Amino acid sequence: MTITLKEQYSIFPVGMGAMPLSVAGRPTEQESITVIETFLELGGNFIDTANVYCLDDSDRGHNEKLICKSLKEVGKIDNVIVATKGGATRPDGGWGLRGGHPKQLRHACEQSLINLSSSELSLYYLHGPDPAIPLEDSIGELVNLKKEGKIRNIGIANVTIEELKLATNLTTITAVQNRCNPFCKGDFKNGLIDFCKLNKIIYVPYCPLGGWLDHVKLASSDLYVHLAEKYQVTSYLISLAWLFMKGDYIVPIPGMDKKDHIIMNFKSLDLKLLSEDIARIDAFPDLYYPKHLEV
Ligand SMILES: NC(=O)c1ccc[n+]([C@@H]2O[C@H](COP(=O)([O-])OP(=O)(O)OC[C@H]3O[C@@H](n4cnc5c(N)ncnc54)[C@H](OP(=O)(O)O)[C@@H]3O)[C@@H](O)[C@H]2O)c1
Repeated sequence: MTITLKEQYSIFPVGMGAMPLSVAGRPTEQESITVIETFLELGGNFIDTANVYCLDDSDRGHNEKLICKSLKEVGKIDNVIVATKGGATRPDGGWGLRGGHPKQLRHACEQSLINLSSSELSLYYLHGPDPAIPLEDSIGELVNLKKEGKIRNIGIANVTIEELKLATNLTTITAVQNRCNPFCKGDFKNGLIDFCKLNKIIYVPYCPLGGWLDHVKLASSDLYVHLAEKYQVTSYLISLAWLFMKGDYIVPIPGMDKKDHIIMNFKSLDLKLLSEDIARIDAFPDLYYPKHLEV
């Protein structure tokens, strides 16, 4: 019997996407620490990071080190699930998935342990299948790292349903992280989300507000403006409420780099959308298709 991450740790339903704290345009270190502290003070306990949430390959580990410093300052280093990832690269500040070779993954995982000042990573994702490396080899190395006690739970990101099925044949996959929001609903249509539910895998939608670059487009769409007025909330809460109402094994990780975002986004838990409005969001036109090979 598999124990899911949610059962092990009682995950708070709104996770924190920490990427905006470390990429271009990032806040100062002190501002970032305040954002993380606010998240924890309000009851958040699930933070999403990656070794490549940074400016470029020379800045690797920035986000992990920042989170570690914040957790030490608030004295919560052991009570928070920090999910991190290996397998991606940031050549010249761009994004790539050429880090899935077993040796690269081992090095990345060991470096993340140092950055997070931890002896075991609660949840470690393959950031995405490396097109040059058989998925079996990448997952196989994560299994080795788990056997050595360096990883407690294995996750996988940016996967198709076929890749997820292959991975689950090799080991227990605790969480899947894919792009999912009203602009990108492929995983609801291709069976991947149903597969997660059936197999007690936590589904972690990334870019839940529309994406780092597209969130404003979604929030200012006619439908969202109408729904925000109807429910008397900011339009940013609509996507989160829509995701919560799809199932409690879905844990969105909105990117948050401002204290106010956290206070606001936690309010989405009180927002219950009518089924007719869920159907209208379901019918919203997709902008992205589920290739899941982008990071
Ligand atoms: N596995 C992967 O390959 C992958 C890829 C991308 C992201 N992720 C993860 O998923 C997380 C979320 O994705 P994301 O950050 O790209 O996109 P997102 O969550 O869809 O959008 C985040 C942006 O929305 C704005 N925002 C958040 N709450 C708001 C509020 N209440 N009111 C107004 N604006 C608000 C912020 O923008 P401003 O700062 O402009 O205000 C924030 O940067 C990331 O942080 C990262 O942890 C994973």
